[in-house]
Amino acid sequence: MILAKIGITGEIKRICKNFVCNYDINDVTLVHTCASDVTQNLIEPMDIHAARPLDAVKIITLPRIHDPRGNLTFAESGAQIPFSLNRAYWIYDVPAGEERGGHSHHEMWQLLIAVGGSFNVNVCDGENWRTFTLNRPYEGLIIPPGIWRTLDNFSSGGVCLSLVSTHYEEADYIRDFEDFKKTCRQ
Ligand code: TYD
Repeated sequence: MILAKIGITGEIKRICKNFVCNYDINDVTLVHTCASDVTQNLIEPMDIHAARPLDAVKIITLPRIHDPRGNLTFAESGAQIPFSLNRAYWIYDVPAGEERGGHSHHEMWQLLIAVGGSFNVNVCDGENWRTFTLNRPYEGLIIPPGIWRTLDNFSSGGVCLSLVSTHYEEADYIRDFEDFKKTCRQ
């Protein structure tokens, strides 16, 4: 049984079997405990639409293993990543002034990481926009379904690693902004 609770303070909490995923709006840390059987996405799009969707788009700080040989950061599905990881892709060699993204998703959860350089992620819930700058390889931006995103202002050498919850499926995309706004009003 899955329990969901969206508090009035903006806290989004969901309990999936033994898995507890707690986004804290104030200090943007992701608190979690984890069981072995995290096999499904933890928060469904309709839950997010019931709250303020943009509040669920957040920067998380990933573990850092400091080492004089070079630092290391990791992310595990069901631990730092609050969804089942099914696909990774990365965007690189973006010419100055170019924009990527420009779509929303029905089901797909995403964690974006600037593993090199920097770029901006502009997110929209159909009404409000917010811009996040990603420029640290130990930070990630969680984007739930139902959020429009564009990526721009890539630095030279900027690389966007994207860890997502679904296999590639064109039917999961909403690529027209007007169509997206209509889905937000429904
Ligand atoms: P798209 O997701 O539109 O890129 P962006 O997020 O920058 O807008 O994908 C661009 C093209 O790459 C599109 O033709 C589909 C293809 N593609 C795959 O085949 N598999 C994938 O996992 C992804 C993300 C894209």
